[in-house]
Amino acid sequence: MNIADILLRHYGPGSAGHEAAEAFMRHSELVASRAEEIALGLALGYEAVAFVREGAMLHDIGIYLTDAPKLGCTGGEPYIRHGVLGREILESHGLMRHALVCETHVGAGLTAEEIRASGLPLPERDMLPGSIEEKIICVADKFYRKSGANGHLELTVEEARMGIARYGEGPATRFDAWLDELGITG
Ligand SMILES: [Fe+2]
Repeated sequence: MNIADILLRHYGPGSAGHEAAEAFMRHSELVASRAEEIALGLALGYEAVAFVREGAMLHDIGIYLTDAPKLGCTGGEPYIRHGVLGREILESHGLMRHALVCETHVGAGLTAEEIRASGLPLPERDMLPGSIEEKIICVADKFYRKSGANGHLELTVEEARMGIARYGEGPATRFDAWLDELGITG
């Protein structure tokens, strides 16, 4: 199944995610554009840039299974689980590499220790972006805040840093290191 078919299957007319389709697609497109721009700035090869774009379009595919009515998501799961749920969806379609993007884009990734310490409803395993492509998508995502009826807010580098800092010192330190690695400056 190609990317367009997967998006249609989960967010197209008559699908379980259709009510969330507008918020999902708008956010995914914004993140995909930013991620592609970062990848091109790093002079990554064609294949990596294409993967970054695909991964960004799919990173939030799990949101419709969560309880986030402002976004049109009518599922029963806690929102923070959209990453692991997205991973399951994409693995069921055989997209193992894209599936990891879903799991590792939440926050600045999460360590098993952070999951345990915060009592998050997630499996206790490290969910950290490993590849440069995963880091790019995770970072690009932090520049856009989904908000239901009001559209989508673009954050500055400083605002994105502050957003991550709320998760604690570990995530803040990781995020700063990635900004550096990806050549993103305020
Ligand atoms: Fe997300």
